[in-house]
Amino acid sequence: MSNQAVKTWHLRDDHQSLVLASFDNRLPEAVYWGPALPAGENLETLAAASLMDVAPGMVDRNAGLSLCPEASETFPGQTGLAARNLAGDVLAPAFRFESEAVTEDGLTLVFADRDLELNLVFDLVLTPGTSLLKLQTRLESANEITVDWLAAPVLPVPAHTGEMIEFSGRWCSEFLTRRLPFSPGARMRDNRTGRTDHAHFPGLIVCNAATRNTSGEAYAFHYGWSGGHRMVAEELADGRRQVQFGHASASLPKGLHFDTAPLYATYAAAGLNGAAVRFQRHVRDHLVKGAKSPRPVHYNCWEAVYFKHDPEELKAIADRAAGLGAERFVLDDGWFGRRDDDTTSLGDWVIDRRKWPDGLTPLIDHVKSLGLQFGIWFEPEMVNEDSDLFRAHPEWVLGPIGQIRGRQQLVLDMSRQEVRDYLYDRIADVLANNDIGYIKWDHNRVLPVIDSRQAEGFYALVDRLREDFPHVEIESCSSGGGRIDFGVLERTHRVWLSDSNDALERQRIQHDAALFLPASVTGSHVGPRHCHTSGRTIDIRLRAWTAAQRHMGFEMDPRELTDAEADILREVTGWWKANRDWMMQADILRLDCPDPAIIAEQQLSQDGREFAVFVALARTSDQILPRPIRLTGLDPEARYAITLVNRDEAPRLSRGAPLLKSRDLEVSGQYLMSHGLTLPWRFPETIWVLKGEKI
Ligand code: DGJ
Repeated sequence: MSNQAVKTWHLRDDHQSLVLASFDNRLPEAVYWGPALPAGENLETLAAASLMDVAPGMVDRNAGLSLCPEASETFPGQTGLAARNLAGDVLAPAFRFESEAVTEDGLTLVFADRDLELNLVFDLVLTPGTSLLKLQTRLESANEITVDWLAAPVLPVPAHTGEMIEFSGRWCSEFLTRRLPFSPGARMRDNRTGRTDHAHFPGLIVCNAATRNTSGEAYAFHYGWSGGHRMVAEELADGRRQVQFGHASASLPKGLHFDTAPLYATYAAAGLNGAAVRFQRHVRDHLVKGAKSPRPVHYNCWEAVYFKHDPEELKAIADRAAGLGAERFVLDDGWFGRRDDDTTSLGDWVIDRRKWPDGLTPLIDHVKSLGLQFGIWFEPEMVNEDSDLFRAHPEWVLGPIGQIRGRQQLVLDMSRQEVRDYLYDRIADVLANNDIGYIKWDHNRVLPVIDSRQAEGFYALVDRLREDFPHVEIESCSSGGGRIDFGVLERTHRVWLSDSNDALERQRIQHDAALFLPASVTGSHVGPRHCHTSGRTIDIRLRAWTAAQRHMGFEMDPRELTDAEADILREVTGWWKANRDWMMQADILRLDCPDPAIIAEQQLSQDGREFAVFVALARTSDQILPRPIRLTGLDPEARYAITLVNRDEAPRLSRGAPLLKSRDLEVSGQYLMSHGLTLPWRFPETIWVLKGEKI
């Protein structure tokens, strides 16, 4: 080794260090990624010390696990690039160092294969404040080529991390987590749906068997792209492990420039929460721009009226919603074309005069007179065959006409400028002629063709609308949570996490989504008493408090509420409004609880002075009495005043006298984090809410 020339770079903050080394001008390798190294660490020594032995049965030098592992290096695993020239010959570049540009927070490294006339550029930033690495790879070619796979900068994960947590899901059950052993060979996820999708949230957490929410190490990743991704987590025969993320394979058109989306990555020593908080803060403080403050309570009419729009009825619903505390009224699907059901009119973004003889203005004026902002639903990228748009432009459809339909609809080819212009004109017309402050932007099917230009076209259209209508907020919806990622969150303000308004399901979904999403962008609505998607009947208290854990809203017909239910909902909404200023800026900390029937979280204010704890009992516990709930992230020396906010909900069958049932208590942070809070017994499918304040 000692004869090899080495160049090194160090991205460092108080939480983590990423050290890169290029040997003999070859592509850089992450020779260290973990807790922050002390100042003065000798990077050349680290680089030299990272070299592994060569044993019998191996090639004579270990190929670098570089930011883009190369076939030309005889890399014994998945390479970071797979490309062909237009004749179909495989390209196997051997990149060498060309230049570097170092900034305060990051660096750009350029490598080239001069024979093949290819440049590989790595943009690497360690975001100040949030400690998220933002990593991007760009490939430039002098000649048109085809790229089947291009990974964002590839990182190794260390040998002591034995497990990975990956994400799957489905409609009404987004963000399902699975813990798998890291084992020899490649675990690959190749999302062929063309959108982020319910089943493929682009995240991965590599950790140890012992890693919990509040303790243990975690290496967490998120690929910020809305067009479908590929992930490879591979253990090589020599024991090294790599994680790759990029666009779904073979989704890039041939060309001269190829960019990955940003890969966000972080090392956290303080459990899954350590990583989760960095992602949450990054979304809240860096990605989302121009969100209305304070976050308004939503009313969405979808599960109240579906396609049956009657202006007078909707006004009556708005009256009731306003009385409950709503501050934004969203008119969902059904206002345009001749949209009486989901077989028709997508693409015809013109107000349906049969339903709205005087246009939307009378409803908007009414809603505004109640003090609410008005929002409206669009599904711009889609078209029904039964529409004027399709009849005029069947050639605008993406994919073969014989394709299987999804929700009876086809997809518009968003790579076409004329398609984007048409959609811009239609949407801009509605926005310019009506007082609208909010769009719910839906996308209700997978794509028939996997092409990155579709997501790029979507981004271009949203960006143009954002530019021209900066006061309009956008919610990303895709049959619920089918398009949630940091690419879409750079352009929108809220996500419709799931079509499940079942509070029990929602508890699980929003708890797992908090591994990446802050409360301020996560829509959560109080649904109907009898849930439309699960058939369950759920008490208003659990429904209301579950919505109050995120960006709160209502989505039932408010006229179904009894007076008692309305009083509870009004009260919880009032509590949410009184606390939203700090809660929408808070960290969501998932709590570890030995009882698997419990889903518990703590929302801790930025200054650490306030917190709320939500303890949902999703089913009957195995043991008879509740186990103490241990809190996290508090100052062990400080004292905290604790209130059981909804103590009046203790049922008569709770016969004992746990202190919180009758009065507040003052204890140290140490006690709260080590012993935990003893709560009263209660029925399953209920929730305790606690408020804490530093004294
Ligand atoms: C799917 C969304 O997820 C629902 O909330 C609703 O907006 C419907 N589409 C409308 O068609």
